[in-house]
Amino acid sequence: MELVNFNHNAQKNIDQLYPTGAFLTAGVIDDANTMTIGWGTIGIAWSKKTMVVMVTHSRFTHQLIEKYKEFTVTFPYEDMKEELMIVGTKSGRDHDKYELAKLSLDQGQAISTPHIDCHGMTLECKVIFKNEVSKEYLDSAIYDKRYAKSQDFHTVYYGEIITSYIHDKN
Ligand SMILES: Cc1cc2nc3c(=O)[nH]c(=O)nc-3n(C[C@H](O)[C@H](O)[C@H](O)COP(=O)(O)O)c2cc1C
Repeated sequence: MELVNFNHNAQKNIDQLYPTGAFLTAGVIDDANTMTIGWGTIGIAWSKKTMVVMVTHSRFTHQLIEKYKEFTVTFPYEDMKEELMIVGTKSGRDHDKYELAKLSLDQGQAISTPHIDCHGMTLECKVIFKNEVSKEYLDSAIYDKRYAKSQDFHTVYYGEIITSYIHDKN
């Protein structure tokens, strides 16, 4: 494990995030869940290093972020398209996704939430702010395309990046 700055490999990580995806893990060992995210922002808010993620209310992961108020984001540095597709299409509410995708978790460094055990870079984040996407303030074309039918809005979580590192699979 090598500690790196939060913006290390930023371009590579953003290229991985969209459109292929990164792993978002919430909860604690034995009560954890991982889903795929494609939308997110790495930057600065309130002078703090932050990762902003957008999680739809219907996701099982949403419940766990609400419960534990922290999360990890792991950008894989090996080909994990299949694993990302599995955890990005099945819900942890009905499936053991770690079993299905043959993935395992590794304990974090600074927070209780673990991260996906792979070759990649992980950001450990504590939620410092959240807001709800609402029709009132949203561009109407985005509302029509993303939410008009489902009414399944995203919560936007601002995670302060507590530590960040590159790791290999155990
Ligand atoms: C490439 C990709 C990107 C995704 N990005 C997001 C995202 O940014 N936010 C979100 O809420 N869901 C996103 N999803 C959908 C969730 O990963 C998916 O609904 C997942 O099954 C939720 O799992 P859960 O119910 O176990 O939390 C994405 C899926 C894929 C395949």
